[in-house]
Amino acid sequence: MKLENLKTESEIKEEIERVDNLNELNKIFKKYLGKKGEIAQILRSIKDLSEKDRKEQGRKANDLKNQINFLIKEKTKKLQITGEGMQNEWFDFTIPGKKPVQGHLHPLTLTKRKFQEIFQEMGFSIVEGTEIENEWYNFDALNIPKNHPARDLWDTFWIKSKATKEIKAKSEKLLLRTHTSPIQVRYMEKNNPPLRIIVPGRIFRHEATDASHEINFYQLEGLMLGKDVSVANFKAIIKEFLSRFFEKEIKIRLRPSYFPFTEPSFEIDMSCLNCKGKGCSVCQQTGWLELMGAGMVHPNVLKAAGIKPAGNNAGSQGFAFGIGIDRLAMMKYKIEDVRLFYSGDLRFLEQF
Ligand code: PHE
Repeated sequence: MKLENLKTESEIKEEIERVDNLNELNKIFKKYLGKKGEIAQILRSIKDLSEKDRKEQGRKANDLKNQINFLIKEKTKKLQITGEGMQNEWFDFTIPGKKPVQGHLHPLTLTKRKFQEIFQEMGFSIVEGTEIENEWYNFDALNIPKNHPARDLWDTFWIKSKATKEIKAKSEKLLLRTHTSPIQVRYMEKNNPPLRIIVPGRIFRHEATDASHEINFYQLEGLMLGKDVSVANFKAIIKEFLSRFFEKEIKIRLRPSYFPFTEPSFEIDMSCLNCKGKGCSVCQQTGWLELMGAGMVHPNVLKAAGIKPAGNNAGSQGFAFGIGIDRLAMMKYKIEDVRLFYSGDLRFLEQF
């Protein structure tokens, strides 16, 4: 391709002006300025010319190149502004834009955050632990020795690993924590009373699933220790917590129960939200709903964590509790199947 065979600048200008859409304009760009375009071909063939011609033709070709580039840019802007270039695509400027889909928090996260807010206002600090725990913290230190029948209360997922005799002897076999109680011990090892903590976290149970059982769910552990922390303190705090969470006055009652790590132990029931205690199908006509396990921390647990139990002069005592976050979220939002939380079903999640 030689320069004299190329269209003149004014012819090219006209060609560009005639174009009425971006597609065509792009074709012109390619024809002249593309990698294999006419200008590129001219520039490539310049080396065969005499030195004098080379200079002159090179300058002319480059000028032309810049000029075409400029004209195409201007034309592009013009087509874009007027919308002319989109002639072939039907474009309705009056249609409202699509809103970007906005994410939101999972109901369990909302519930957990609310719990944290309420307990923080009552002076509790938030502590976290790991989902993989060892046998010592999950059981032994909580007064549940090996071969103790109480271990059966928690159906455990054990983690396969080569446990040497030493690991076994030290109870360091790994498992997925079955409750958040191990963090009681971990925290007491490093901190002295008085203390007030909550531990939100995911826990695991090797169970068949149904509407009220999942293999993993969320728990909120509470622990308060001091010189004379009592069951009365526990009742006051839990009642306050529930009333703030459900935004209405809630009645509670304590029933005797058994946990190896508390003595005495109890189950806490709250007045049925649905019938206000009169008896209905939700509470199986009892007027009460089971809420959580709790009790006064067992002296053996304090000892395992290196804390002097009350009774010895200047010792400590206090309560612990474990609330099911899923369970309270189900009550608050009137959800009938715990599995919905883990289904990832947007029809469910979008309601929160
Ligand atoms: N860890 C117990 C459970 O998961 C709950 C609990 C916590 C009971 C603290 C008493 C004290 O079942």
